[in-house]
Amino acid sequence: MKFADRIEQLPPYLFAQISKKVAAKKAQGIDVISFGIGDPDLPTPRHILDALIEAAAEPANHRYPETEGLPEFREAVARWYERRFGVSLDPAKEVLSLIGSKEGIGHVALCFIDPGDVALVPDPAYPVYEIGTMFAGGSAHTMPLLEENGFLPDFDAVPADVANRAKVLWLNYPNNPTGAVADIDFFERAVHFAKRHDIAVCHDGPYSEVAYNEYVPVSFMQAAGAMDVGVEFHSLSKSYNMTGWRIGMCVGNPRIIDALMRVKSNLDSGVSQAIQRMAIAALDGPQDCIAEHNAIYQRRRDRVVEALRKLGLKVTPPKASLYVWAKVPDGMTSAQFAERLLDEAAVIVTPGNGYGPHGEGYVRLSLTLPDERVDEGLRRIAALPALA
Ligand code: MLT
Repeated sequence: MKFADRIEQLPPYLFAQISKKVAAKKAQGIDVISFGIGDPDLPTPRHILDALIEAAAEPANHRYPETEGLPEFREAVARWYERRFGVSLDPAKEVLSLIGSKEGIGHVALCFIDPGDVALVPDPAYPVYEIGTMFAGGSAHTMPLLEENGFLPDFDAVPADVANRAKVLWLNYPNNPTGAVADIDFFERAVHFAKRHDIAVCHDGPYSEVAYNEYVPVSFMQAAGAMDVGVEFHSLSKSYNMTGWRIGMCVGNPRIIDALMRVKSNLDSGVSQAIQRMAIAALDGPQDCIAEHNAIYQRRRDRVVEALRKLGLKVTPPKASLYVWAKVPDGMTSAQFAERLLDEAAVIVTPGNGYGPHGEGYVRLSLTLPDERVDEGLRRIAALPALA
């Protein structure tokens, strides 16, 4: 067999590697506690499941969906953006359904990137921005996210020739993995930069509903001019505990939405209509579940931050997202620290360098495991001798 070069170049997906480590420990009979992937342990709310049960019995939903999504789904997304962010969207031209936002994030590179092209990608970042670029034959110019800059990229640090060649700018706030947040002013600077260099902005915003202490994240689409230059990828996964159902959306610039629709309709057959009915129930239904989930995550966040600080680790409580981003003890790398927790405490954390070289020196702890597992994991970490 002769595989494509890209398969040789393709690193294993970060969480696939971690899952393998967990499976290997479990096979040895070890009880592993995972602060790894951000995959809500809380169930999908009842009224959303009820919509699925009803939709599953409806023969129209047993057939192929349209790639762009049901008109009712796209209308529900537009209503939600209006209510939540005051952003008006044309459901026919400015909203597209996705089989989870990861799928759209991976595919959108095919709309912009020809072999040899450049995308501006934050570092550290969700790995799919760079992998999608690579699949399309392009390469990433990375923009360091530094703690001293609030984990925001410095657009002025992008060399002018790179900025002029770049076709896509990736952003993601509330941020994975750092938990950092951005305000409208930052997004407007991004729009300005994108207009100056004729770059499309792809903002990934799946954590906009996971926020703490009254903090309310904004959408990139609220920035003046955002619709001219970009789109936002969003998802039902983190807001409504729906990771397993695979549904998300891309909203914004109609030319980008049309290009992504053309790519997707040639490659996939859309989101199951019964799942779209769940999403409609989620977006149009009662929203109290969001505050309830956030209260649970906030308690976990506070416990994790307190426990890590007691061990001498430097950590800032995130205002939003499902993640605590902590500095590893001096003299250790991210991987060494993560290995030590796994080998000596059977606790999984994600090494920061898995998100790019500027993630080195950090680990990420996800808050999506039951309270008693959080407590047990923290007890095990605290029991390790001379950690910090
Ligand atoms: C993460 O843990 O980074 C995310 O849950 C992965 C994803 O959203 O695909």
